[in-house]
Amino acid sequence: MRILIPDAQFLDDAEIERAAAGPGVTFDVHRAVRETDVPEASWRACDAVICYHVIQYRGPWLDRLERCRVMVRAGVGFDNIDIAAAAGRGIPVCNVPDYGTTDVADHAIAMMMALTRGVAAYDAQLRADPVGAWRFDTPPLVRRVRGQTFGVVGLGRIGTAAALRARAFGMDVLFYDPALPSGAELSFGFGRTRSLADLMAGADIVSLHCPLTGETRGMIGAEALAASRPGQILVNTARGAVVDLDALFGALKDGRVGGAALDVLPVEPPEPDHPLIRAWKAQEPWIAGRLLLSPHAAFYSPSSIVDLRRKSAETVMAALAGEPINCVNGVVPRHG
Ligand code: NAI
Repeated sequence: MRILIPDAQFLDDAEIERAAAGPGVTFDVHRAVRETDVPEASWRACDAVICYHVIQYRGPWLDRLERCRVMVRAGVGFDNIDIAAAAGRGIPVCNVPDYGTTDVADHAIAMMMALTRGVAAYDAQLRADPVGAWRFDTPPLVRRVRGQTFGVVGLGRIGTAAALRARAFGMDVLFYDPALPSGAELSFGFGRTRSLADLMAGADIVSLHCPLTGETRGMIGAEALAASRPGQILVNTARGAVVDLDALFGALKDGRVGGAALDVLPVEPPEPDHPLIRAWKAQEPWIAGRLLLSPHAAFYSPSSIVDLRRKSAETVMAALAGEPINCVNGVVPRHG
């Protein structure tokens, strides 16, 4: 049994994966940036692939997976894998949806709190001038959190965890998720909107927790932002391309949107010449204290990485044993 890890995001020799997979399994570990960086023979020889986020798993190279019986995305979002193309070749694709749910929810709330309590802005101001900046009334987005409305786009695992945390802060919760059955709002005790525009209009904070799909790509664009409640704070820990960065720049600049906290960007790392990134980096007065970035790190904690790696290997082994979990492309694995 041979498991290929083309774009491994760890430095050791797959120790956690080896322990989870058990004896008789060989690991072929690479830290590639493109699929062409991995030897052709590795693609052809593997029984399973554990995919991280760096390589785009799409295109004709899939034909090289002659023996492959499962692809496991070490992560939740599988937008870098052409799952239909894999299905067309009879290869099931599974993800690992349950390794960092609380970490991402905590991060979304931390970003919201950092802006609404001015934490990052106070720190930046004091570092520049520890004496002169010793004032409480300078960060632009400080507000009482209790009583604000926390709007969730995508009330799945992470969205629900974030919503429950927001409720614990005394916030009202509103959500938009067209896939949830009628009555889900009653089970949770959250408010529900039937359109994105209503969610944007009704929330003081909007936190994105939907997957990146054809439908959600660019969903938070000029139209959605024009519908937003004035002064709204947008938090994105989902996928960068859900937000149209140019439209967000315009909405922040004209003041419609109060602030934004982005863990994910359409291009990662960011394009330094994008006007929003340039203004933020230069701390231009209009944006100071209103934009917070983190480097696609919402999922990260040492504990979440251990869970992710162990569960990725367990997911491979389950599929190879004919008992797949978390298959996202509807293919039944070949057993044996
Ligand atoms: P999930 O599948 O449990 O929940 C996603 C929810 O979004 C579902 O309830 C679904 O119905 C909803 N949804 C789908 N299309 C929608 C639309 N057009 N409008 C509104 N809602 C829609 O997934 P989970 O575990 O909550 O993860 C959500 C996303 O978070 C992932 O797809 C991934 O892209 C992102 N993520 C980001 C991480 C980071 O480090 N920043 C780490 C882990 C996940």
